[in-house]
Amino acid sequence: MLDKRQLKSESATIELGKKLALQCLCYLNNHDDTIIIYLEGELGAGKTTFSRGFIQALGHNGNVKSPTYTLVEPYDFDNFSVYHFDLYRLADPQELEFMGIRDYLSKRCICLVEWPQQAGKILPQADIKIELLYNQLERDTIIYALSEKGVNIMSYSNQ
Ligand SMILES: Nc1ncnc2c1ncn2[C@@H]1O[C@H](COP(=O)(O)OP(=O)(O)O)[C@@H](O)[C@H]1O
Ligand SMILES: [Mg+2]
Repeated sequence: MLDKRQLKSESATIELGKKLALQCLCYLNNHDDTIIIYLEGELGAGKTTFSRGFIQALGHNGNVKSPTYTLVEPYDFDNFSVYHFDLYRLADPQELEFMGIRDYLSKRCICLVEWPQQAGKILPQADIKIELLYNQLERDTIIYALSEKGVNIMSYSNQ
């Protein structure tokens, strides 16, 4: 399943993050589970902007910066967490094992992953993949639901 749309400004990217966050929240209200979201696109394509919309929609009031040096930033909510990964500077996928990636993935959580291709095979497959593409000054996006869970999440409507 896939969905293409135009994002005419930064606020449209934030709105898309917000919409998906609320769909994930609906899913987590009904399932004890881990959701994996891959964010793909060049530098500056809007992956962190999307993540900011996503994380703030769940009730985080502070900053959301790309964890370029720390690789992951945790955000704890009432009964689940969001782990925001930025793997741009990951030198070796094994580093994720040393970080205790297995522990992260065993929890009720949502993983937002920038530069997932850097992780090799260490990360699980994505449930949802968001591709962000430059279109002159704007962006285009393609959203893929890649698992049954992903399709289920995308089926929650919060228009
Ligand atoms: N739909 C959009 N149209 C135009 N500019 C956008 C859009 N979405 C995000 N931006 C801008 O593009 C830049 C994206 O930066 P960022 O989100 O940090 O990218 P990335 O994490 O992919 O490297 C920011 O300056 C943001 O304001
Ligand atoms: Mg980023």
